[in-house]
Amino acid sequence: MFSIIRPFIFNLDPEMAHDLAIKSLKLNLIPNNIFQIKDEDKLETKVFGQKIRNPIGLAAGFDKSAEVYNSFFKLGFGFVEVGTITPRRQLGNPKPRVFRLEKDKALINRLGFNNHGLDLIIKRISKNPPKEMLGINIGPNSDTKDKSDDFVECLSKIHKFANYLTINISSPNTVGLRDFHEKKSLDFLLNKIFKLKIPKPICLKISPDIDYKDVSQIIELAKKFNINGLIISNTTIENREELKDTKKSEEGGLSGQPLKHVSTKMIKEFYKGTNKKITIIGVGGVDSGESAFEKISAGASAIQLYTGMIFRGPTIARDIKNELISILKRENIKNVSDAVGLNT
Ligand SMILES: Cc1cc2nc3c(=O)[nH]c(=O)nc-3n(C[C@H](O)[C@H](O)[C@H](O)COP(=O)(O)O)c2cc1C
Repeated sequence: MFSIIRPFIFNLDPEMAHDLAIKSLKLNLIPNNIFQIKDEDKLETKVFGQKIRNPIGLAAGFDKSAEVYNSFFKLGFGFVEVGTITPRRQLGNPKPRVFRLEKDKALINRLGFNNHGLDLIIKRISKNPPKEMLGINIGPNSDTKDKSDDFVECLSKIHKFANYLTINISSPNTVGLRDFHEKKSLDFLLNKIFKLKIPKPICLKISPDIDYKDVSQIIELAKKFNINGLIISNTTIENREELKDTKKSEEGGLSGQPLKHVSTKMIKEFYKGTNKKITIIGVGGVDSGESAFEKISAGASAIQLYTGMIFRGPTIARDIKNELISILKRENIKNVSDAVGLNT
């Protein structure tokens, strides 16, 4: 079905297609349970000590302002991360700012945290309780001087509505944000955050464009502050040389296929370096059971995806679940949690 309508959707500007998708999902027409599948109990697992039906999550950036997360549970996702949410409403960068690289099964975006702002989103979530695990991803406004203040404000106000929270220091589209990967700045930020004593799991979302020195320093701080999770990874500003699509030189973060192996390699590094003690959520180029299994066997307890859904359509969670179950059966693995880190 999606392969029939895909050419029409791909004729639209990517951001317009996205807005149309949000509008359709808001109509709430998806029946309950049609995206659940046989043997799904093989995929039931836990992240941060909380049970999820399956480890396939929607990555941050699709439902930026928390408008349609419950529809994604109906589409068969095991968890959804909304955001990035900033304290104040923000329009983001001038359009066009999202580009489809069809030949590379990739996207480039330079949206710049367009979202409806903290207070309105809090009202929205409080009126529409999430049916399953909801992660809330937060970040700073582009014009805030001390960006750590914005993380503190968001966390203090929104934490009670989340099952877990993600500190996003890795978007390439907010000037200076990635500087938080540097040891001194990250220590300063985490100090402020953990002083708040937020009674919810806290994750750090990481850039794939860091070097090995940064990896070991982040691991050191993750252990120091007892961070609950690492989300690996955000989009990359590198890896353009091999791309085929003419839009490859657009400025912004690259996601999808060209990011797949880069993020998987980084997951392995962090899994080994944290002695398997910190939950890892693997993101980057997941679009099939095979690519989900690669991330899980590299050390991810769960995966998230965004770009894969643009190319495979709204049934992707169900399709990946079926494919993943076949792989588990083929490999004689009883439950998906037994596959975590198998290939490290
Ligand atoms: C259009 C678009 C917008 C995004 N916005 C955000 C965002 O607001 N916050 C964030 O943490 N990640 C954002 N991301 C990054 C994704 O969450 C994910 O980390 C990245 O795209 C890699 O996964 P994928 O290859 O499955 O897309 C965005 C990605 C895309 C394609």
